[in-house]
Amino acid sequence: MVFCDGNPAAPVMLVGEAPGTEEDRTGRPFTGDTGLLLDRILKAIGLDRTEQNPAAAVYISNILNWRPPGNRTPSPAELDVSLPFIERHIALAQPRLLILCGGLAAKTLLGTGETIARLRGKWHDYTPLTDGITDKKIAIPALVTYHPSYLLNMPAQKKAVWQDMLALQEKRRESGLL
Ligand code: URA
Repeated sequence: MVFCDGNPAAPVMLVGEAPGTEEDRTGRPFTGDTGLLLDRILKAIGLDRTEQNPAAAVYISNILNWRPPGNRTPSPAELDVSLPFIERHIALAQPRLLILCGGLAAKTLLGTGETIARLRGKWHDYTPLTDGITDKKIAIPALVTYHPSYLLNMPAQKKAVWQDMLALQEKRRESGLL
């Protein structure tokens, strides 16, 4: 099981897709090559999953807590089963801001069939799709960005992710988190 990493008190929570081989081995999300790139991206805006100070920390999880065999794309049934767990996880962690990393995390938590290209770079209001997750009806601002594994194959898109990180900085400032 690969449940979480980082500081649960962090106001920023990042949700990815599913563990890969390296994550399956270590039991921690984003620990392979993709994770190294993610850490570098976050460091560029002063966020670090190992940071004790919540203001500079980040909390990390995935939609799925288990690696799909052969690292295949999670099936609709696996996403359905996982959704209430990640939604309750978010409700318990109570982040002020969410980063949804990649199309699958964004579509699953926002309950939309829109493409990542359309969702990316914008703030969305996240509220749980599953009934009974929380009494709090406050939406959490959620920024959609490209997944770092996509950036490893398409480095030209790093520019877009940098813009997203600047938007995150702006939101942290506006929200009194910087
Ligand atoms: N990709 C993800 O979405 N999550 C991980 O934990 C690792 C790779």
